[in-house]
Amino acid sequence: MDLLDKFDYILESRESMPFQKADPLTVVMDEVLSETEAVIQGRRTILAGTNNYMGLTFNGEAIDAAKKALDDFGTGTTGSRVLNGTYGSHKALEAEIARFYGTEHCMVFSTGYQANLGLISTLCAKDDYLIIDADSHASIYDGSSMGNANVIRFKHNDVDNLERRLKRIPEGAGKLVVIEGIYSMLGDQAPIKEMLEVCKQYGAMTLVDEAHSMGFCGEKGRGVAEMFGVEHLCDFIVGTFSKSVGTVGGFAVSNHPKFETLRIACRPYMFTASLPPSVVASALVNIQTIARSGNRAQHLWENSRRLHAGLKDAGFTMATDTAESPIIAVLLPDLEAATRFWETLFLNGVYVNLSAPPATPAGYFLMRTSLSAQHSTAQIDQIIDAFVKTASDIGLSLTP
Ligand SMILES: Cc1ncc(COP(=O)(O)O)c(C=O)c1O
Repeated sequence: MDLLDKFDYILESRESMPFQKADPLTVVMDEVLSETEAVIQGRRTILAGTNNYMGLTFNGEAIDAAKKALDDFGTGTTGSRVLNGTYGSHKALEAEIARFYGTEHCMVFSTGYQANLGLISTLCAKDDYLIIDADSHASIYDGSSMGNANVIRFKHNDVDNLERRLKRIPEGAGKLVVIEGIYSMLGDQAPIKEMLEVCKQYGAMTLVDEAHSMGFCGEKGRGVAEMFGVEHLCDFIVGTFSKSVGTVGGFAVSNHPKFETLRIACRPYMFTASLPPSVVASALVNIQTIARSGNRAQHLWENSRRLHAGLKDAGFTMATDTAESPIIAVLLPDLEAATRFWETLFLNGVYVNLSAPPATPAGYFLMRTSLSAQHSTAQIDQIIDAFVKTASDIGLSLTP
């Protein structure tokens, strides 16, 4: 038997998509002009789906620090954090993130995916209970399947449903509830205060993934837990450098007195090479930039509200009633409409994400935008105009 036969259904589904001149899975950025523009297939294109929330990928200070780290320490560490892969800069970055979050401890991972994989699979062992939102990111699901815990899902953002699940778990059992501050597909916020309070009422430990909220939520930019004043109810916060921080890597912070034990228990931390010094240097500078980010976050929120209002007024069906985050998603009726819309919008000069199941909840076909603090107001208006033109080009009716 050919082991690859099992993927035939994916090929068939892809072949059924009516792409003609461009396909989202084969987009190549030929030239990246800035955080908000690239040349793709020979055309200048507005980037409106890159998770580059704080617009720091071309931050001059971070680039200089990365270049210096390359000269001083070379291109990579060639080792795990627990062998030869811990340099002074890894420790300095962990200290900086712990300072940023006001926590005792921080562990830096090679990606945010690995931070979730590592924390979740290591914290929850056989006989423990892991309780996760049904719309959790793949890294949370994968962490669940890597551990041996009993995994229980609750309905997306449903506090009562979470409470019903917690009620049924034997008293005294180890329990970890994992939620995201902002959900990456629909861009909706978790009712974090109510959720974390219920968790604590039932003696559960909590992990909040702030991948899509760090940088611009909360006064200091720590995320949704800060925004709602409930950081003291989070046992662990996980984040990534691949969005607001503008590079690659992940982290977990905590005040738990035994947190450092994870460095010698957590396989996705131990059995992989550490981040290259140039990445570590740029992450450090960009986190410092976020900490003193002035009006960057404010401009990002203005952009988000402007795009949401513009698309809603034009008659698009929005995933959320208001702009809860810089992820502004438009719902399309089915995969065929989503396919045609994505390609036509792209040919009209705007790149967004076509998101469909299994990345989205069942039945959700999205044009998912994720805005940047570097988008100008004029670019936001161009994005709105391109959406409206695209709807007209493909005959999608709007109801303003
Ligand atoms: C909610 C969430 N958590 C974690 C991650 C993983 O981040 P990274 O890109 O650093 O692996 C992502 C990435 O998309 C995410 O959306």
